[in-house]
Amino acid sequence: MTRPRALITGASSGLGRGYTLSLAADQYDLVLVARDEARLQELARSIETEHGTLAEVVVADLSTRSGIDVVRTVIETSRVDLLINNAGYGLKQSLLESEVSDLVDQDMVLTGAVRELSLAAVKQMRNRGRGGLINVSSMAALTTMGQYAAAKMSTLVFTEALAGELRGSPVTVTAVLPGFIRTRFHERLGVERPGPGWIWLSVAQVVAASLRDARGGKVVSIPGVSYRMAARIARFVPRPLVRWGSNGFSLNRRDG
Ligand SMILES: NC(=O)c1ccc[n+]([C@@H]2O[C@H](COP(=O)([O-])OP(=O)(O)OC[C@H]3O[C@@H](n4cnc5c(N)ncnc54)[C@H](OP(=O)(O)O)[C@@H]3O)[C@@H](O)[C@H]2O)c1
Repeated sequence: MTRPRALITGASSGLGRGYTLSLAADQYDLVLVARDEARLQELARSIETEHGTLAEVVVADLSTRSGIDVVRTVIETSRVDLLINNAGYGLKQSLLESEVSDLVDQDMVLTGAVRELSLAAVKQMRNRGRGGLINVSSMAALTTMGQYAAAKMSTLVFTEALAGELRGSPVTVTAVLPGFIRTRFHERLGVERPGPGWIWLSVAQVVAASLRDARGGKVVSIPGVSYRMAARIARFVPRPLVRWGSNGFSLNRRDG
């Protein structure tokens, strides 16, 4: 029997590594994408040994044209049953303090790559009559915390729009909005992990909830009861209050 095949961006760490391990345990063959080749190779070998499925490594910097092209070509020339656009990172500097080139690079990873890889994948999936797409957004999409929040809102709306266009087709499309997750994200950002312990989700929690929601055909997945409640409440919070809270949080984080 042919095993399903998933391509995961940002597989070298955190949530992407979690998706990889969970899908390997479910007997998926995998295509692992990120920049850190050593980490990807180590993960690929451990999957092949522990689960007996195939794990292919694709080294690509998704902030570059050539990096996106390499991954898009894999999607267009081989079968990908599940695409998870997960690669991403934050910037410590505010919009006004950031170099424009850093904003452009981040935008390419968080929105350009997501848009291009999503479209390439769902077109193939629609032609084959099956497949799934998971785009990792964030609860930050509900805030005004810099370009990161804007990009994550873009991912949410883009994914919802795609889901609308694919209605009635067997291809499922899901945006995941996690809250804080224990990964290398904040360490890489160079900030302390903010807030009390209970706000932190584990990688396993987010992976399990989002895969369950995607398999159930949900368009928006918010892992964790408290985050689902927060998202409901956020709809009724006046916009000036959202801006005030987001600004305060960002200032605290930069000063910390
Ligand atoms: N942690 C949180 O609290 C949280 C909350 C909500 C949403 N998220 C989202 O969850 C996703 C995964 O983040 P994480 O928390 O797992 O962080 P992480 O542990 O830092 O992992 C980020 C992954 O993205 C990859 N990546 C970064 N820049 C890349 C580039 N230019 N090209 C290719 N790959 C790149 C990294 O791989 P290489 O460095 O090897 O390239 C790494 O595998 C991100 O989209 C993030 O925005 C995180």
